[in-house]
Amino acid sequence: MCGIIGYIGKQQASPIVIDGLRRLEYRGYDSAGLAVLADGKLATRKRKGKIDEGLAVLHKQSPVTGTVGMGHTRWATHGLPTDENSHPHLDQSGRIAIVHNGVIENYDSLRKKLEAKGHTFKSETDTEVLAHLIGERYAALEKAGHIKENAATHPLAQATKDALKDAVGTYGVVVISEMHPGVMVGARRGSPLIVGIGNDENFLASDANAIVNYTKRVIYLKDYDVVTLWEDNFKMETVSDNSGSYQISDIEFDAEAADKGDFDHYMLKEIFEQPQTVKNALRGRMDFEESTAKFGGLNMSVAELRAIDKIVITACGTSWHAALVGEYLIEEMAHIPVEVEYASEYRYRNAPIDKNTLCIVITQSGETADTLAGLRESKRRGHTVLSICNVVGSTIARESDGGIYLHAGPEIGVASTKAFVSQVTALTLFALMMGRIRMLSNRRGTQILKALEAVPGQIQKILDQNDEIRRIALKYKDCHNFFFLGRQYNFPVALEGALKLKEISYIHAEGYPAAEMKHGPIAMIDENTPTVVVLPTDALYEKTYSNLEEIKARKGPTVAIATEGNTHIAEKVDDVIYVPETWECINPLLAVIPLQLLSYHIAVARECDVDKPRNLAKSVTVE
Ligand code: F6R
Repeated sequence: MCGIIGYIGKQQASPIVIDGLRRLEYRGYDSAGLAVLADGKLATRKRKGKIDEGLAVLHKQSPVTGTVGMGHTRWATHGLPTDENSHPHLDQSGRIAIVHNGVIENYDSLRKKLEAKGHTFKSETDTEVLAHLIGERYAALEKAGHIKENAATHPLAQATKDALKDAVGTYGVVVISEMHPGVMVGARRGSPLIVGIGNDENFLASDANAIVNYTKRVIYLKDYDVVTLWEDNFKMETVSDNSGSYQISDIEFDAEAADKGDFDHYMLKEIFEQPQTVKNALRGRMDFEESTAKFGGLNMSVAELRAIDKIVITACGTSWHAALVGEYLIEEMAHIPVEVEYASEYRYRNAPIDKNTLCIVITQSGETADTLAGLRESKRRGHTVLSICNVVGSTIARESDGGIYLHAGPEIGVASTKAFVSQVTALTLFALMMGRIRMLSNRRGTQILKALEAVPGQIQKILDQNDEIRRIALKYKDCHNFFFLGRQYNFPVALEGALKLKEISYIHAEGYPAAEMKHGPIAMIDENTPTVVVLPTDALYEKTYSNLEEIKARKGPTVAIATEGNTHIAEKVDDVIYVPETWECINPLLAVIPLQLLSYHIAVARECDVDKPRNLAKSVTVE
């Protein structure tokens, strides 16, 4: 949520900042702005709206030059998306500028104290209060004669640290100042910030996509880290200490992976990447010899895994849907009871959790605030926490005791697609491994591995039906309500289908276990309310089919996601999309693909901004 980039070096900062902001725009697109040190003076440009409609136009009309600069793309938390509320914000003196991602919770009381000292504010934001606080602390250092460029802690970093000691909340913040035109300061608590190390140039960014074009050497800042950057050097400290530790890592993907390529939207590109991303999630983890799965990073012995008698999975949104599939998978294959919790509920619920409970968190970004808080709550209680995560080096990946990376590459479309399928793939492998430690037979293990191995090709077969799925989407694009139904493994798929449609097309959609319709929701069915039923040829086929008949009896249009070879269904429903035959437990990996495409094509036909749906942003780093 909110994207940040900072540059210090020999090149012009503005083009790098604007390019970086475009790559970060999925983190927020209410407004965007930049500040550059131009001939030692701060010049800011900021405007409401998406980058190419606002900031980029403004900057073209009145460009700013300079080799130190920073930018921000905003997802509004405090204050409407207006020009005034856009970042960067200046301090009272106008000599210090900051961009900020996060929430300063005590901003109101801080603002009142500053107002009492004569400060005046131009915006309603918590960020402007932080800028003023840094300015106030800088003025105090000036007054005490402590402004020395060569001080152990640079004065701009010192002022930032002094201000952050009084700020309650979360921040990924970048600070520049007219008084120190060769310096840029960054700090983090709760909101991601990374340092990019280049040759005679350095960067700060809220995520790697923004800078991977320029450097692959990065440092993932930890909470309370404060970094001072010069073009050819950097110094790591913490808010309370004059020295800090760091580790340099490599970004694991190439710049092209973060590009749209020939696709119209990131979401479509990511849907079409899924044969490959499933292969990535499977690579090196299928052990045909032992008919099981193996992972490099769980950091748990077989005995420790064997001792687990309950699993709690926490996640949000689409990742929570993957967790629900995981519940079915683990309970069936390993006979371990699983509880799936919304991270936002779990963290404040005083849930009694038994001693031998393993906690798992699932997250694409690794930065979701509620999921992170849930992880910390589990760890505080002494539980081992594993993460299933896509973004390498993210906070959740680093704070968990062990985990499984998805290796799906950057997911930029705000609506999650490939991450879901990779999460379910990883969960299937995990369930298989847990099952094989306990009671799952060698024969069944091999069946599951073979079925997983076939998935990339099967997904490709579904993608090849894209034109047909588009045709069906156009037929229903003007409907106002949709239902998605499924049973067992496919109930979470129905939830995911409904969420995808809602978030990118703004059509009201609900997902239900198929049999629940008659307990209330069926009242909504009429000839303009289509129902998409995930109807594989499995043990519950007849039951689910009866639910479909109940919809038809009320004149509801029906679309079936059915198994290849089921010719009977084509005569019974208005439209059918076929997916290849597989085991019940593997079906979610296939059944969700047509639902992703259906939502995508409906949203495009309704002229919605698929990659930047209204009110949303990728990576929700506020509670
Ligand atoms: C929906 C979507 C969100 C995320 C949720 C959790 O398409 O993307 O519901 O799944 O915000 O995000 P992560 O997985 O990054 O923790």
